[in-house]
Amino acid sequence: MEFKQNNTLGQIVSKFPRAADVFHDYNIDYCCGGHRTLSDVSKEQSLNVKEVIDALHKHYHSSTSSSTDWEKAPYLDLINQILQAHHAYLNQNLPMISEQVKTILRVHGQNHPELMKVYQLFHRLKTDMDMHLIKEETIQYPAIEKYLETNKLEDLENAIQVIDELEEEHEDVGGILKSLRSITDGFNAPDDACQTFISTYENLEILEKNTFTHIHLENNILFPRVKKEI
Ligand SMILES: [Fe+2]
Ligand SMILES: [Fe+2]
Repeated sequence: MEFKQNNTLGQIVSKFPRAADVFHDYNIDYCCGGHRTLSDVSKEQSLNVKEVIDALHKHYHSSTSSSTDWEKAPYLDLINQILQAHHAYLNQNLPMISEQVKTILRVHGQNHPELMKVYQLFHRLKTDMDMHLIKEETIQYPAIEKYLETNKLEDLENAIQVIDELEEEHEDVGGILKSLRSITDGFNAPDDACQTFISTYENLEILEKNTFTHIHLENNILFPRVKKEI
């Protein structure tokens, strides 16, 4: 596989999902910003595009696990992947991280006023995500499944209708994650942090990574595939 400057980030992660690790290292947003090319994003973030491409090639050649091509996989497999790897992860971890964020605010908030902002941002994300998952699970995915059963145009239109709104919500969540990364200095706990503080920041970084992949699967693969059906 050959990576080129004019490939979009979404295309690259669709063909090679583990490119997400490289983009994560370079702090490149490939989910909401997945329509941008490697060359655009390198200019925007003052990165050396050749170095990023080399890192992608290196990662590709060292990668032995074969990954599913979600652009070609059956819809139901793709939706199940999103539910199992991302929705289930969020339902399980958001309440736990919420408790951690509350604890570190109580214990370290006086010496680390940034934790007030972390608390606010995280809970905005949690509230938005809880509602977003319900919307997808009760409206969007069932609409796609109904269209697969009936093949009727009106069912397809119902499945497409909600996409703009979901994409806007993804954009908001992406913005909150960017703010969280910046206020926590890239999820780096300070020198005086206790184990819970360190673990909270680690969990926030895992949340960021999981959410980027989640939004990528929807914005760059699932939604465009549904739109193309028309
Ligand atoms: Fe989702
Ligand atoms: Fe979503």
